[in-house]
Amino acid sequence: MNIKKIRESKNQDRLVMLTSYDAITAAIVSQGGADIILVGDSLANTSLGMTSTLPLSLDSIIERCKAVCSHSGDALVVCDMPFLSYGISEEETIRNCGRVLKETGSHAVKMEGGEWLAPVIKKLVNIGVPVMGHVGLQPQHVNSYGGMFIQGRTEEEALSILKDSRELVEAGIFSLVAECIPEELGKQLTEETAVPVIGIGAGPHCDGQVQVISDLLGLTTGKLPKHAGQYASLAQTAQEAVARYSKDVRMGAFPGPDHCFPLSGINNHEAMHNGA
Ligand code: KIV
Repeated sequence: MNIKKIRESKNQDRLVMLTSYDAITAAIVSQGGADIILVGDSLANTSLGMTSTLPLSLDSIIERCKAVCSHSGDALVVCDMPFLSYGISEEETIRNCGRVLKETGSHAVKMEGGEWLAPVIKKLVNIGVPVMGHVGLQPQHVNSYGGMFIQGRTEEEALSILKDSRELVEAGIFSLVAECIPEELGKQLTEETAVPVIGIGAGPHCDGQVQVISDLLGLTTGKLPKHAGQYASLAQTAQEAVARYSKDVRMGAFPGPDHCFPLSGINNHEAMHNGA
C-alpha cells in the first residue's frame, strides 16, 4: 500500500485501517490484510495504562512506531502526533513530524485539528511528509470538551467540521479520519471530501473504517464504546491459557519431556526448537 493508492481508492475500494502499538500486533494486522496500520496515540490509554492520550510523549510513540514498522509487511504505517508535539510552532511541528518519519520508517503522520493546522500541513506536504487529517471527536481536546462526546450534532458544529475538512484537503492531506459524528454527517462529509474519509463511529458511508485493535480483538474486559466492533475475545482466551499454565506449573506437569533439552547428541541450534 502507498499514499498514491490510498488517494486513488476514493469511490473505488473501502479502506481497512487498524491500530497497532508493537511488532506482534503489527504482524497480525498486516498478515490479516489491513491496508493501513495506525500507531495511534490511543497507545496511551490502551497499552500504557494512561487515562487519556495527553501524557503520551513523542519518544514513546516513536519507539512503538519503530517496532510496528519492523513487522508491518505491505501495510502503510501512519504515526499519530501526540498532544503538543505539534501546534506550538510551525518549526517545532515540522521538526517533530520529520523525526517520526526519519526515526521510525513510517510513511505518514496524523494530526487532530481543523483549519488552524492547514498552513503547517501545506509546508509538511511540500517537504515530503504525507499527512492524514482527523476531525470530529478529537480525544486530545478531552479537557476542552469536558468529556468525550459525539461531535457535529448541531448545524453549527456540522458546518464547522465540513469547513475544517475542506481546508485540510486544500492544504494537501491524503486522507481524513472522522471520529464519532452522526452517520448522516459522515455520509455528507464522505461525499463532499476529495480524499478518502476513514470513519470510526462515523457510520457506514465512509470510504474506509478504522478500529482500535484491542477493541476488535477483545483484548480488554472493560466496556467497549458503542462504535467498536469486537471480532474475537482474546482476553478470555488468554486468561484461560494463563490459568491452565499456572495449574500445570503448580502440579509439576510443565515443563514436560518435550520441553527439556537432552545433555548431548543434537545440533545446538536445532535443539533449541521444537521437532529437533
Ligand atoms: O489514536 C487512535 O487510535 C485514533 C483512532 C481512534 C482513529 O486516532
